[in-house]
Amino acid sequence: MKYGQSFPNHIAIIMDGNGRWAKNKNKPRTYGHIKGASVAIDTVLYAKKLGIKYLTLFAFSTENWNRPSEEVSFLFALLQEHLKKEAEKIKENGIRFKTIGNLATLPDSLVKLINSLSNMTEICNDMVFTLAVSYGGKQEIEEAAEKYKNSEPGIKFKDCIQSSFLPDPDLLIRTGGEKRISNFLLYSLAYTELYFLDKYWPDFSERDFKDAIKEYMARKRKFGNLI
Ligand code: FPP
Repeated sequence: MKYGQSFPNHIAIIMDGNGRWAKNKNKPRTYGHIKGASVAIDTVLYAKKLGIKYLTLFAFSTENWNRPSEEVSFLFALLQEHLKKEAEKIKENGIRFKTIGNLATLPDSLVKLINSLSNMTEICNDMVFTLAVSYGGKQEIEEAAEKYKNSEPGIKFKDCIQSSFLPDPDLLIRTGGEKRISNFLLYSLAYTELYFLDKYWPDFSERDFKDAIKEYMARKRKFGNLI
């Protein structure tokens, strides 16, 4: 294979298809989320093993609040359970944990855990794992505009964006067969390479991850230029 690209520095993932995966197995949607959460953790550890420097996972969007409240509560409880269980492993692996999104809307116990894991891994510098929770790309830009309006002269608009600590993603992977961005990282995805996989998130494997990276590396990025 001819590689046109170096290894991706930042990979962002829309983990879609948990519900359909479960439905195909005649199981409740929660069954899909349980498997999806464990695949998410495996993916974080695998990304670290591969040498990815930034991994950003879309766990819960602003629009996901429109789901039935039982499913929303289930997702937060699941997230909490996994973050608690995997905290030590995340730290041991030199992974720094960060979040983007509106934490004020989340249950207190989850916010506490998020803050504690973020503090606990502050000195880790092998990989940054960012979880987007209660996150919306449009909302992020609107908040940045408000912040920019009230900022000191000399401040750049980009620096007012909540996710500005992240480099722009090189590669966006979306599972589940849909081909859309769904309000994820709207500002920074401008020149990101998109990779859509016709497979539900709970079936996402190390092989799939490697294949996505391989395809990315074979692509030619021009950033609007001629070569
Ligand atoms: C999309 O599937 C998935 C979600 C909205 C939730 C994603 C969350 C996780 C995988 C848990 C994250 C946990 C950790 C530990 C990071 P869907 O429900 O929209 O599936 P569907 O499109 O088939 O209905």
